[in-house]
Amino acid sequence: MNGIKILGTGSYTPEFTADNDKFSEILDTSDEWIFPRTGIKQRHIATDVPNYYMGTQAALKALENAGVSPEAVELIIVSTCTPDFFYPAMSCLIQKKIGAKNAACFDVNSACTGFITSLDIAQKYLACGKYKNVLIVSSEKLSQQTDYTDRASSILFGDAAGAVLLTASDKRFSSYMRAEGDEFEALYCKINYDNANCPWYGDIDKFYENRFDTDQKRNFLVQDGKAVYKFAVNAMAEAVRNAAAEENLDLSELDIVIPHQANLRIIEKATEMLGIPSEKVYTNIEHMGNVSSACIPVALDELNRAGKLHEGMTICFVGFGAGLTYGSAIVET
Ligand code: UT7
Repeated sequence: MNGIKILGTGSYTPEFTADNDKFSEILDTSDEWIFPRTGIKQRHIATDVPNYYMGTQAALKALENAGVSPEAVELIIVSTCTPDFFYPAMSCLIQKKIGAKNAACFDVNSACTGFITSLDIAQKYLACGKYKNVLIVSSEKLSQQTDYTDRASSILFGDAAGAVLLTASDKRFSSYMRAEGDEFEALYCKINYDNANCPWYGDIDKFYENRFDTDQKRNFLVQDGKAVYKFAVNAMAEAVRNAAAEENLDLSELDIVIPHQANLRIIEKATEMLGIPSEKVYTNIEHMGNVSSACIPVALDELNRAGKLHEGMTICFVGFGAGLTYGSAIVET
């Protein structure tokens, strides 16, 4: 049993939205600049709830959608790069809130690739028979790391959470995961231990090299947009090709591709390189912006709620993010 069956999906998007016009009130930017270059019209922002609240709501909806009780969940994997706490893991907070008292819990951080990493880990646990029901929650509150004085990055990101409940199946599953750690300075958010008071500290900043800005003391996301863009197009194509090759799948067999929603131009370029027609590519970036690892499960939930997720479909998930990490998973439902 190498496959995974999607028992239920759920998502949470905060009520408050910031459209492109709202950004032109605070920055020298416009809808005319943002939309053609990114495909984004608006993003949701969690103005009055923490990240784990969003994850909890998405998890509860996934369980309700599956008709499975919280007590039957044996493992909770949360992907997040924007946690509320260094520790405990956000999965533990969500476990408490949903009452999944029989679950093991841990968090995964491969940034925007986090849902695919979590799916890959979940598949391994399900395939070996260790757990029957695995809940993945991808929950991201990018607004707390976004520098709203930086027009090149702030216009991209939003907040949301998506969740899926999985069990083992005898259908096909394949995946491909890679990272380019050499390129980590292209996208980072450094932890600022502002209040560290260890009396024996020396000059720790000397260990950082190259493009990395050691004066970057704020807990804000820093990005070389052009470097990420260039990396992303090829990385997505490579990941899909290799995941498909593992199961001798022809790309024409894919029913739908759900990509990480970072920039519509990146998605269009990568899928064009793969020869995948646009009608098979699901996007929600126009109304969601980039919600990091939550992009894919939120999109999956939208599809599910629209009645477009059926048994026997072959779905390709593909993503990339800080690390730089990238990966793809192909799931036969
Ligand atoms: O999950 C992964 C997350 N990250 C990504 O996927 C990022 C991928 N990269 C991108 O999507 C694009 O690089 C961006 C959309 C972020 C930026 O587009 P770009 O074409 O690479 O712009 P740029 O940063 O090179 O800037 C070009 C010009 C600059 O002006 P000058 O120096 O030529 O006068 C910027 O100041 O565009 C200006 N600019 C803007 N102007 C109006 C940058 N952002 C804006 C803006 N509004 N929001």
